[in-house]
Amino acid sequence: MASILVIDTESFIREVLRNLFESEKHDVALASSGREAKKLLGKNAFDLIFLDIMLKDMDGLELLRNMPPLNAETPVVVITGFATVKSAVKAMKLGAFDYISKPFSLEEVLLVAEKALEYSQVKRENLLLKRHLRRHYSLRQIIGSSEAMRRVFALIEKVKRTDSTVLITGESGTGKELVAKTIHYQSPRANGPFVAINCAAIPRELLEAELFGYEKGAFTGAVVSKPGKLEMADTGTLFLDEVAELDPALQGKLLRVIQEREFERIGSNKTIRVDVRIIAASNRDLQEQMRQGRFREDLYWRLNVIPIHLPPLRERKEDIPALLGYFVQELSQQKRGRPIKFSHDALKALMAYHWPGNVRELENLVERLMVLHEGDVVSAQDLPSPLGLRPAEISPRGQVLLSLPSEGVNLPQLLQELESQLILQALERSGGVRSKAARLLGLNRTTLIEKMKKLGLAEALRR
Ligand SMILES: Nc1ncnc2c1ncn2[C@@H]1O[C@H](COP(=O)(O)OP(=O)(O)OP(=O)(O)O)[C@@H](O)[C@H]1O
Ligand SMILES: [Mg+2]
Repeated sequence: MASILVIDTESFIREVLRNLFESEKHDVALASSGREAKKLLGKNAFDLIFLDIMLKDMDGLELLRNMPPLNAETPVVVITGFATVKSAVKAMKLGAFDYISKPFSLEEVLLVAEKALEYSQVKRENLLLKRHLRRHYSLRQIIGSSEAMRRVFALIEKVKRTDSTVLITGESGTGKELVAKTIHYQSPRANGPFVAINCAAIPRELLEAELFGYEKGAFTGAVVSKPGKLEMADTGTLFLDEVAELDPALQGKLLRVIQEREFERIGSNKTIRVDVRIIAASNRDLQEQMRQGRFREDLYWRLNVIPIHLPPLRERKEDIPALLGYFVQELSQQKRGRPIKFSHDALKALMAYHWPGNVRELENLVERLMVLHEGDVVSAQDLPSPLGLRPAEISPRGQVLLSLPSEGVNLPQLLQELESQLILQALERSGGVRSKAARLLGLNRTTLIEKMKKLGLAEALRR
């Protein structure tokens, strides 16, 4: 149900439209003059306005031009008499959503009304989403009061209003993507898109196509033309994650984009200009990569205009209590677990731990405890025991998080154990279907079967 205002001097038209919209369960208000319309528009926010531009007491276009603030965003469909196409064009230029000319059919009116209402719905949702994102990615959502983090905040404050290229470095899970998004959503580009591309996750040929787009027929499989992420990021920010993984040819192409903001789609010689801000991130030491000749020096200096380094959590342990409190609050708000508290000894153990997975590891631990722990207070015994000797964990990106116990390990034996456990889990998850299990493990079926034989798993399963 929407509220619709019909402004027309002809009472016949007003009544026809009223009947039509009321039969569609909408609320309808009527105005026969510009003055009446102004009064209504000043007091009520409508979802849709039908406006005859040939009013007796004022020019309908004038009303369109000076729409009261309450209805500034409301779509307006202009009604024109026939032979007034010129005014219709003018109205469209002034921001009317569409126009219909008399005489019109009821179907035509319903169609345009539906389109306009859908449009304003999408626009409203979009606005809410943007506002939500801006609030979500504010500096307040980045937790930390350590000296190191205060330096990071100061840098974000300085760069957020500029278009400068930013290079964010730091170990996995230190918050690189969080910082990149925060910069974008606090920048004048916040209403433009934030487009991320992970240079490590995509094979080389695909990455080039993803980044630059391609024309139909540019290579086998290119059956349609497709814009790349660079084009999609126009007016917004392009986040180049794991930039150290870019291969040399792409590094060169990227350099040109950064210098000229220009490029061509694959298979095209038409140059495309884009207005993008670039934020790059890497968990590798780019300077080291450069020294080893794996990363172009000129590209490094182009990216490294404003470096932001996120220190690992073990170097800012004083931030741990605040992070724990923050995640407990966030996660319980999102109904992802019950609120918990940490005892003094638990906190001590958490502060002593070296957090190889950084903030992400801490966040995951809090969530796990909030879901699994019985009772309100978590003490040291309730922590994965002891925190430094946890069983291995595999991050979504396939990194294995584990630490060497003080007494050392038997590596060949451990690797066998690791293989066996993962294969058994994969088989269980795939209901024993080996081709599926192989896919879960990134193996082909024959390799899986060979491994199972070698590890003695085939026998174990048959029993
Ligand atoms: N200072 C912080 N305050 C609050 N949340 C944080 C902070 N740092 C990181 N996080 C959270 O930790 C998780 C990991 O952060 P993020 O994905 O930004 O890390 P990353 O550096 O991009 O890691 P990777 O290199 O593995 O991609 C996210 O859920 C993020 O919101
Ligand atoms: Mg990341």
